[in-house]
Amino acid sequence: EFTKAFPNVADTDYSDKEERERSQQAIQTVRQQIGKTYSPLINGEYITTTQTIDSVNPSNPSEIVGKIGLLSVEQAEQAILAAKAAFPAWRKTPVRQRAGVLRKAAEIMEKRRHELTAWMVLETGKPVREGDAEVSEAIDFCRYYADEMERLEQGYNYDIPGETNRYNYQPRGVSLIISPWNFPLAIPTGMTVASLVAGNCTLLKPAEVSSVIAAKLAEILVEAGIPKGVFQFVPGKGSSVGAYMVKHPDVHMITFTGSQEVGCRIYADAAILQPGQKHLKRVIAEMGGKNAVIVDESADLDQAVAGVVQSAFGYSGQKCSACSRVIVLESIYDVFVPRLVEATRSLNVGAAEDPSTKVGPVIDANAHKRILEYIEKGRQEANLALQMSAPSNGYFIGPTIFTEVSPTATIAQEEIFGPVLSVIKVKDFEEAIKVANGTNFALTGGLYSRTPSHIQKAQDEFEVGNLYINRGITGAIVSRQPFGGFKLSGVGSKAGGPDYLLQFLEPRAVTENI
Ligand code: SER
Repeated sequence: EFTKAFPNVADTDYSDKEERERSQQAIQTVRQQIGKTYSPLINGEYITTTQTIDSVNPSNPSEIVGKIGLLSVEQAEQAILAAKAAFPAWRKTPVRQRAGVLRKAAEIMEKRRHELTAWMVLETGKPVREGDAEVSEAIDFCRYYADEMERLEQGYNYDIPGETNRYNYQPRGVSLIISPWNFPLAIPTGMTVASLVAGNCTLLKPAEVSSVIAAKLAEILVEAGIPKGVFQFVPGKGSSVGAYMVKHPDVHMITFTGSQEVGCRIYADAAILQPGQKHLKRVIAEMGGKNAVIVDESADLDQAVAGVVQSAFGYSGQKCSACSRVIVLESIYDVFVPRLVEATRSLNVGAAEDPSTKVGPVIDANAHKRILEYIEKGRQEANLALQMSAPSNGYFIGPTIFTEVSPTATIAQEEIFGPVLSVIKVKDFEEAIKVANGTNFALTGGLYSRTPSHIQKAQDEFEVGNLYINRGITGAIVSRQPFGGFKLSGVGSKAGGPDYLLQFLEPRAVTENI
C-alpha cells in the first residue's frame, strides 16, 4: 500500500521546442539585467552598505552578474533587534496565514521558473536542466513545509477522564540561516521557509558567490507578503558578520549547509553561552560527503555506467550528494572501467548556458585551484585514467578519473567537490562495504546489483543517510527522498522529510486538572 504521495511539481519538459526557446529567451533577458546592486533587507528596508562585492559568472568571470552590499556588524545587530521585535506578532500569526506566505512564494517561483533558472545558470554555472530541477525543489519545499506545519499544528491530545493533556509546538525565536552556493535557490529556500513557517523570525546569510539568486529569493518572500523583521536578508562576510550573528545571545538557532570545517566551527561557537543568553542554541548542520557507489558482478553495467557518470559529474561534482568514489568488484573491474571512461569522455564541457553542456565550470578561482591541487595529488597517488580538456576562459575543469586508487589515499578520503572520480578495486562484496564505510562521512551511497543478499547487506550495513539502489545517488526529491546524513556529514534531521520542521520548534505539554 502506498502512503498518499506529496504532489511534487513537474520540471520543465525540454523536449518541447517552445519551452527550450523560453528558456534561452530567459537567459537573454536576465543577461540584460546583470550588474545591478543588491542590498541587505533589514526590518523591511533595503539598506545601503559601505562595502560591496562582485558576484561573477564562473563560465566567464569577466561578466559581473551583480554586486552585493555587505552588512556591517552594527547593521547585523540592527537586524537581530528587528527580528526580536517582530517575533511576538509572528509567533501569534495563525499557521494558515504563515503557510499562505509559503504557498504564495511557490506560486511566484513557478511563474518565474525560467528566469530563476537563468540567474542560476549565469551566477553559479549550473547547466540549465539542473537549474530547472532546482526551481522545482524550491517550490516543493515551500508547499511541503506549509503542509507539514499544518499537520504539526494539530498537536497531540492525551486526555484522560478528569485531566486534559495537550502536546503542542511553539517556535524557538530568532533563527539564522547560512546557505551554500551549490544549490543556490533550493537549499536557502528550504531552510528559510521551514524556519519561517514554524514561526521563527529568520535571517538569511547566503554564500557570497551566490548572493544574487539569494536576493531574488528575498524579493519573492517580500512579494509573497512576509512581514518586515520576520524575514531579513543579511549578506555579509562569514568570518566577521556571520560569526557575530552565530555568537549573538539573541539568536536561538542556526541552520547551516556547507563545508565540514565551517559547520564544526559554527557548532562549537554556538555551544558557548554568551552573557545575557537564556537558552542553548540549536544547530542544524548539513556538511560534506565522500559518497561511494558500489558496482558488483551482477550489476547491469549500462545502468551502472550511466548512473555513476551522472552522479559524479553532474554540476561538475559540486553536490554534497555527488559520487566521488566508485568501488568495483575485481571480477568486473576490467570490463567496467573502460566503459566508465568512454561514457565520461562523451560529456560536453562548456559554458553553463549552452544547452548541450553537461559539465559546466566550477564555482570560483579558489575552487578551481583547490581541485587542480587534488588532481596533482591524485597523479602521485593513483593512475590517471582520464583528464578531459576544458575551455580556459572560465573556471573549467575537465572530468577526471583516477583508477587503482587506494581506499586510504587522500583523493579517496577528502571531499574534493569537483569533477574528480576515484575508482577503487575490491576483491569481494564484504570488502566493498568495508571500503565504502571507511571515511568520516555518511551522506549518500549507491549500489548497482541484482543480488538480493548484497542488496540486503547494503541496506543493513552501508553507513549513509540516503542509500540508492540501482540508480544515481543525487537529486533527492522533496518528501520522496528526505535528504541528509550522519557521521561528519551532519547533525539534524532530513530536509524535505517528516521530522525536519520539529527542529525549528519547541514541544510543550499542558495539563489541566478538570
Ligand atoms: N539534495 C541534493 C541532492 O540530493 C543535495 O543537496 O542531490
